[in-house]
Amino acid sequence: MDLDKIDINQAPPMEEAARQYYFIAECREWVKDFDEKHGRLPKSCVTTFGCQMNARDSEKLAGILAKTGFVETEKEQEADFVIFNTCTVRENANMRVYGHLGQLTPVKRKRPHMKIALCGCMMQEPEVVEKIKKSYRIVDLIFGTHNIFKFAELLFTCLESDRMVIDIWKDTDKIVENLPGERKFPFKSGVNVMFGCNNFCSYCIVPYVRGRERSRKPEAVLGEIRQLAKDGVVEVMLLGQNVNSYGKTLDEPCTFAGLLRQIEEIEGIERIRFMTSHPKDLSDELIEVMKHSRKICRHLHLPVQSGSTAILKKMNRRYTKEQYLELVRKLREAVPDISLTTDIIVGFPGETEEDFEETLDVVRKVRYDSAFTFIYSRRTGTPAAAMEDQVPAYVVKNRFDRLLAEVQNISAEVCAVHTGNVMPVLVESVNSHDDALVTGRLSNNLLVHFPGDESLIGQIVNVKLNECKGFYYLGVQEIS
Ligand code: 5AD
Ligand code: SF4
Repeated sequence: MDLDKIDINQAPPMEEAARQYYFIAECREWVKDFDEKHGRLPKSCVTTFGCQMNARDSEKLAGILAKTGFVETEKEQEADFVIFNTCTVRENANMRVYGHLGQLTPVKRKRPHMKIALCGCMMQEPEVVEKIKKSYRIVDLIFGTHNIFKFAELLFTCLESDRMVIDIWKDTDKIVENLPGERKFPFKSGVNVMFGCNNFCSYCIVPYVRGRERSRKPEAVLGEIRQLAKDGVVEVMLLGQNVNSYGKTLDEPCTFAGLLRQIEEIEGIERIRFMTSHPKDLSDELIEVMKHSRKICRHLHLPVQSGSTAILKKMNRRYTKEQYLELVRKLREAVPDISLTTDIIVGFPGETEEDFEETLDVVRKVRYDSAFTFIYSRRTGTPAAAMEDQVPAYVVKNRFDRLLAEVQNISAEVCAVHTGNVMPVLVESVNSHDDALVTGRLSNNLLVHFPGDESLIGQIVNVKLNECKGFYYLGVQEIS
């Protein structure tokens, strides 16, 4: 799309992608005026909270800002346009956003032309929007998860307006394709395959803020990945709240395993990752595809949440402890070197010491490469928030510390098993602490640091893993 050819004197087109390009062209005019007035280009800052889906959305936001002419900065205080892409999965994610807004309040007093925007999951909660309207008048723009594709249009409205602009949709069945985007890394990219979640785990707010499950058509996903491969991308991370139920809602259903088979065929793509997998939907077909794939990484994130069948039932996870362990057994049988990671919630309402011991038992049996451990956070509007016998904080804290210690001891042992091996590493960056080293990732997602320079970035090279330091390796490149 040639932005210079767009006539902004005409009315904006109705077709969504063309419409957003039109508003990018409008914003470009605004940026030009800013430049003339201030003698410099305006700066933008995108701050992201939460998961990989949000990180991918933020890349898209940054892409649009870059196209309009904003210059990126990492410092919120010096930006002319700041946008917070928020998360609400746990209460502390919300608190952090309020913290940032609090810090910007005196900054905006000194720099009144500064614009502050909020988007993402937290904005889908009506109480949050009320609170911001009442207590954070410094905010200029609020929109949610369902209309993020309209960002260029909303940005323009916000830049032109001196009132708080709010546009929140309750839900959508829309997927808008062919919008501009940006990638943080030239050699790897996230690719959305589906949006929303229909699982309604009883603790989780995601189905309420991200809406119903919708899958992109396989042709749209494959087309995007082919283009990425042409642009030099070698690794894709397929993203969805529950990738294993990909395709179920399409007019012509396609399984996730079927989609993976087709991605495998794309020349230039060397590594395929995906997240997140729900154990209840992980099919034998998928295990088969993983077993025979050359490109799917030897890593699976398989959230267990709890090891107690009684708690899993109250969580509405729809599998038992035994079914989860059986799934792990099947996965390991098919892909013996697979690395498994998980999410665990401690202190779900009604969790007894015996339930918690079941969780520890699963951790000891599966021996995860790593586990994200969370203290249960009560989310208003979810079924679990209304459950009785919420576990006292001191009990939860004690269990959390015990779980963390167990997880860390095991993962240090598990991660070290590759010591001495030579393995392929995709080099991602120059090491942030020592510029004589570069940092890359193994297929199983572990980090490796080894001597090298930036010419290696984006390449897959063989590295001898000399020493494991818990969660990463130190190595040397093997030149054959
Ligand atoms: N409290 C604590 N952790 C939660 N998660 C989701 N909702 C909650 C909650 N209310 C965790 C789950 C999920 C991960 C993304 O966040 O473990 O897998
Ligand atoms: Fe939340 Fe469960 Fe959906 Fe994951 S699968 S987003 S935990 S409701």
